[in-house]
Amino acid sequence: MEIFLDTANVNDVILYKDFIDGVTTNPSLIAKSGRSDYGALIGEICQLVSGSVSVEVTSRERNDVLAEARYLAKIHNNVCVKLPCTWDGLRACRELSAEGISTNLTLCFSASQALLAAKCGATYVSPFLGRLEDCGHDGLTLLEEITGIFEIQGYETRVLAASIRNRKQVIQAALLGVGAVTLPPSILKQCFDHPLTTQGLEIFERDWKSML
Ligand code: G3P
Repeated sequence: MEIFLDTANVNDVILYKDFIDGVTTNPSLIAKSGRSDYGALIGEICQLVSGSVSVEVTSRERNDVLAEARYLAKIHNNVCVKLPCTWDGLRACRELSAEGISTNLTLCFSASQALLAAKCGATYVSPFLGRLEDCGHDGLTLLEEITGIFEIQGYETRVLAASIRNRKQVIQAALLGVGAVTLPPSILKQCFDHPLTTQGLEIFERDWKSML
């Protein structure tokens, strides 16, 4: 399972680069980074990781989406163009896939959207678990449906579990066999931490020192 960092903050990428396969960004994260030179920002992030770096188009209409996607794809070989799961986004996906441009179909909230993304040759599709659960829906059921469909139908599109809110969702996604998860830095940090590890180290250190 690939682990991506969900950020547009270069310092976070530097901090966690030994544990991640790539990075996912979105317009909100880029705005939060405070960098208006986003082409240069994406180039810097691509230099730091060996895997894919998802960058989202902000256009809505198919021809504009295509032009923006081709511009983004030229920034670096590892750029994976994020497209929305919309009529225009899916049609653009079909065309970009035929051109060999890697795509990540984002804002996926239903299995039918994921199915169409796979039919259009998407490299990744990103179901948003946390946002679904924020409004009372079951994100895990959606993930189960999508992974089940892709397995039964033999689709090559990788499921990228996104909008992750806690460690438990990371494990649930891994158990379902998703191809990738993207984690905000705070959740990746949580994955390292366990109070019993911290407590155990304190006990070992105290006992060791008592012997000296
Ligand atoms: O980058 C896409 C997704 O992971 C966003 O998550 O936390 O804004 O719902 P969130």
